Amino acid sequence: MRQLFAPGADAILRLALLTGILGIITLLVIAGFVSESNYVTTVGVAPAQPVPFSHKHHSGELGIDCRYCHQQVEVQATAGIPPMYTCMTCHSQIWTGSEMLAPVRASLANNTALHWTRVNRLPDYVYFNHSIHIDKNIGCSTCHGAMDQMQLTTRAQAFTMAFCLNCHRNPENFIRTKEQIWNMEWTPPSNQATQGADLVKQYHIRGPAQLTDCSICHR
Ligand code: HEC
Ligand code: HEC
Ligand code: HEC
Ligand code: HEC
Ligand code: HEC
Repeated sequence: MRQLFAPGADAILRLALLTGILGIITLLVIAGFVSESNYVTTVGVAPAQPVPFSHKHHSGELGIDCRYCHQQVEVQATAGIPPMYTCMTCHSQIWTGSEMLAPVRASLANNTALHWTRVNRLPDYVYFNHSIHIDKNIGCSTCHGAMDQMQLTTRAQAFTMAFCLNCHRNPENFIRTKEQIWNMEWTPPSNQATQGADLVKQYHIRGPAQLTDCSICHR
């Protein structure tokens, strides 16, 4: 094997590897700068939407389960936005003449998608997966706030790297019991320190060294 490479090939290989890694980090930094402005500034601001859909009405007041509309959240990487026929299971009977719902009826009649403006969006170089977080007892509101109180949908978190790492280093501060996943008003109970540590063990959550490894989120 050895004679295949000229003397010094090892050093060249190392240099190439190092440049490659530095290159990736540079790209990430540039991408970070470019995206920063849209991300940090939109917390709490509702973007214009084709229909003024209210989570406060549908989840808070009518009590419709999140999974009725975001069906894949427990099993897939993305939670998914409901197709128009999900709305029409009710709105073909109620509020049928509503001006506000005209775009929904048109999209269904013309078989075209309704284009919601995305509220939460990570840069493309970050990998995220809903199902593992739900499976390991991280509730929606830790990342999305009290969705059931939102008249119009806004972003609750800037989703900076520090936000993700803050929990990946200390999941025991945020982990809940199973039945609390859908509680939008959850706050840590007084025994969170002991209960959290127990839950982290019980659900076999990896240690901070593994959960802060760059390749978990940058693949
Ligand atoms: C009746 C259907 C329905 C129910 C029930 C519902 N949602 Fe939604 N959700 C939507 C629609 C439609 C959108 C896209 C429009 C918007 O952003 O408001 C959306 C958007 C969202 C978004 C933002 C998506 C983005 O663009 O980043 C989050 C987060 C969310 N929902 C979480 C929840 C949670 C948590 C619950 C349960 C408390 C819930 N939803 C219940 C229909 C629903
Ligand atoms: C399970 C039944 C149900 C589903 C599913 C549902 N809605 Fe509704 N929606 C209602 C009810 C009931 C009201 C009336 C709420 C009120 O004013 O008290 C309403 C009200 C509304 C309004 C306000 C209408 C107006 O003129 O004031 C809009 C807009 C709306 N819904 C959009 C949607 C969209 C978009 C979807 C699909 C993502 C959807 N709804 C899914 C039951 C539903
Ligand atoms: C650990 C943080 C975290 C938790 C917990 C979480 N989400 Fe999200 N959610 C995000 C991030 C980050 C995005 C943006 C994803 C992207 O751009 O790739 C997102 C996006 C969404 C979207 C937009 C569509 C999509 O899938 O990208 C919906 C809807 C949503 N979340 C609903 C929920 C619901 C419902 C729950 C609870 C069952 C939940 N989320 C729990 C962080 C979280
Ligand atoms: C409140 C706590 C919390 C927050 C916030 C959070 N995570 Fe996580 N994340 C976890 C837990 C717990 C796991 C499961 C770890 C395990 O099973 O060992 C996990 C797992 C993951 C995994 C799967 C790792 C694998 O190898 O399967 C990815 C990817 C991930 N998180 C990305 C993110 C990103 C990106 C963000 C920020 C947008 C984020 N997480 C925010 C708690 C959190
Ligand atoms: C738990 C998930 C997670 C882990 C682990 C993680 N990152 Fe990130 N990283 C993110 C998110 C989310 C962003 C996007 C931040 C934004 O949009 O503001 C990001 C952005 C970046 C950026 C762009 C500049 C910036 O800060 O916004 C660089 C560079 C970067 N990460 C490097 C790393 C390195 C090196 C490691 C390992 C030591 C690492 N990341 C581990 C989630 C993670």
